Amino acid sequence: MATEITDRRAAGRPHWSGRWAFVLAATGSAVGLGNIWKFPYMAGESGGSAFVLVYVACILLVGLPVMVAEIMLGRRAQRNPVDAMAALADEAGAARAWQGLGVMGVVTGVLILSFYSVVAGWMLDYLALSARGGLAGLDAGAAQARFGALLADPLRLLLLHTVFMAMTVVVVGGGVARGLERANKLLMPVLFAIVLMLLAYGVIWGDAAGALSFMFRADFGKITPAVMLAAMGQAFFSLSIGMGAMMAYGSYLDRGASIARCGLTVAAMDTVVALLAGIAIFSIVFAHGLQPAAGPGLVLQTLPIAFGDMRGGAALGTLFFTLLVFAAWTSSISLLEPATAWVTEKTRITRPWASLLLGAATWLLGVTVLLSFNAWQEIRLFGLGIFDALDYLTTNILLPLGGLMIAVFAAWVMQATRVRDELGMRGPFYGVWRFILRYVSPLAIALVFLNLTGLLPRL
Ligand code: TRP
Repeated sequence: MATEITDRRAAGRPHWSGRWAFVLAATGSAVGLGNIWKFPYMAGESGGSAFVLVYVACILLVGLPVMVAEIMLGRRAQRNPVDAMAALADEAGAARAWQGLGVMGVVTGVLILSFYSVVAGWMLDYLALSARGGLAGLDAGAAQARFGALLADPLRLLLLHTVFMAMTVVVVGGGVARGLERANKLLMPVLFAIVLMLLAYGVIWGDAAGALSFMFRADFGKITPAVMLAAMGQAFFSLSIGMGAMMAYGSYLDRGASIARCGLTVAAMDTVVALLAGIAIFSIVFAHGLQPAAGPGLVLQTLPIAFGDMRGGAALGTLFFTLLVFAAWTSSISLLEPATAWVTEKTRITRPWASLLLGAATWLLGVTVLLSFNAWQEIRLFGLGIFDALDYLTTNILLPLGGLMIAVFAAWVMQATRVRDELGMRGPFYGVWRFILRYVSPLAIALVFLNLTGLLPRL
């Protein structure tokens, strides 16, 4: 059966043009709203350094090992995540039910994209606003009112959400080389340049000392089970792991590339961008006496005040929201890719139509999300609004669960010789990776889950 898997490599599946194209695309997937919109506000809400500390630990002990495993599964199978899990289960002599992991991933991707696109729409709105100079002279009250007015306007949200979904569908419909790879090669360098410019601004004119002490001063007292789960979920979300996006991207990777090195590069870039964006944003927040714990509206309710108040703020604000839109765009395509690859490879529907079809379904779900900010505000699922419920379900439950299953499959179910052969890792690294993936990562995920459900005494 191993031959069957290897045979598919020649079957004319699309491929990245090289190792760097993959690293860039995977980094594009990882670096997104999660880094620049979510990470700062979650850190701000969860006591700053406590959250940052647990987050970095989660990246090292769970995120990186699982990412390497997920890419490895994809590259070995050379198939979309659903068929990949079926083929790999066959190869390992395990139950076909492992396909369920692939299906769960495809569904999770659509669920995440439905609210991701709505948030990306906010960023489009603020990009347009700052580009026409609309941030000038905004004070705290006006900034809050502006964000509130946007949330209260379903038609406007609908338009923005539709534009962003269309941008996503166009790229995914274009395919691996002409769509995904080209978009990432174009957008990612600009994105890095903007992060560095913002950081330079924050450090020179902002309160960098305040930002650094907020983010890194050791403060273990604030580490609670809820903070731990939030940090773990955020690590999964930010690295784009646990749902098959990395598996799909890995399936377009050539045999020669070192998966470990690719994974390490992607995880490092993602973490660095989150930390740098955090430093830049909190430097500006503190320098203007704003609140770090403003929640999901942090970058929209606080930064515009700062942009409106500073010299060159219109330009800086425009740059900042361009950054957010580009980052969101290179991520959203990876949320739609697994489902699109599945439909394309399984049915006779062509890629452009598959991407349009799935995009339309996601769009529809997104409409319920944007209504949850206004007309459907009263609707509660498990005590949360639709937006919060989807975010919680995917980030804190489905992604860690997917990650747990990936770890178990790669470290316990697959034959070690095949894993080793696929990774091509030498020396002690392989042993360390395997040990962490076998014992540490699953245990860490399980502990966080159990602790949350109250089955364990509070840590
Ligand atoms: N990582 C992206 C971000 O930080 C979001 C994302 C893209 C994602 N693809 C994913 C999250 C797959 C989980 C799984 O914004």
